[in-house]
Amino acid sequence: MITVLRLGHRRGRDDRISSHVGLTARQFGADKIIYSGEKDSKMMESLEDVIDRWGGFFEVEYRIDFRKVIKNFEGLKIHLTMYGESMNDKIDDIRLKTEEDLLVVVGSQKVPREVYDMVDHNIGVGHQPHSEVAALGVFLYSLNDGEIKEKFEGAEVKVEPSRNQKLTRTL
Ligand SMILES: C[S@@+](CC[C@H](N)C(=O)[O-])C[C@H]1O[C@@H](n2cnc3c(N)ncnc32)[C@H](O)[C@@H]1O
Repeated sequence: MITVLRLGHRRGRDDRISSHVGLTARQFGADKIIYSGEKDSKMMESLEDVIDRWGGFFEVEYRIDFRKVIKNFEGLKIHLTMYGESMNDKIDDIRLKTEEDLLVVVGSQKVPREVYDMVDHNIGVGHQPHSEVAALGVFLYSLNDGEIKEKFEGAEVKVEPSRNQKLTRTL
């Protein structure tokens, strides 16, 4: 099971990017997202509405104390940060441990220093600043050997892939 922990959500400022972190986690094979920072029921409800419509088993949770989440997590803990070790150097080792549950931590604004010491690996997806959405997507995609999840059980709607049209089918 893969859980994503999104640190430091700010209501209003981060709504869009935090919900994109959740959608990216779901698309690329995570099972659950935990938000910390400011509680934002509206953002979480709109994410849950998308999940209800597009299917899949994906949990959305809020936890005020991210330290407890990291500390009590039983499994492999990875923090994505531009300051970490190269993903390309570490991904094979991490893949070997995927029978363990995995916690993937991403930040928003400055990540508290202690997080770096609470995890098993600090991993850089490149060593340039970019985005938690990009870092998470690329990391999970690589972990899954480039396989993109297509089946989302219980969906109400699905896309009919098309060369030049927006087609959806109601199920
Ligand atoms: C806007 S960045 C903030 C970067 C900030 N300098 C910090 O304290 O890490 C937000 C989040 O995106 C992720 N991120 C950005 N660039 C990354 C990279 N090159 N590799 C891995 N994660 C990255 C990290 O999780 C980071 O906390």
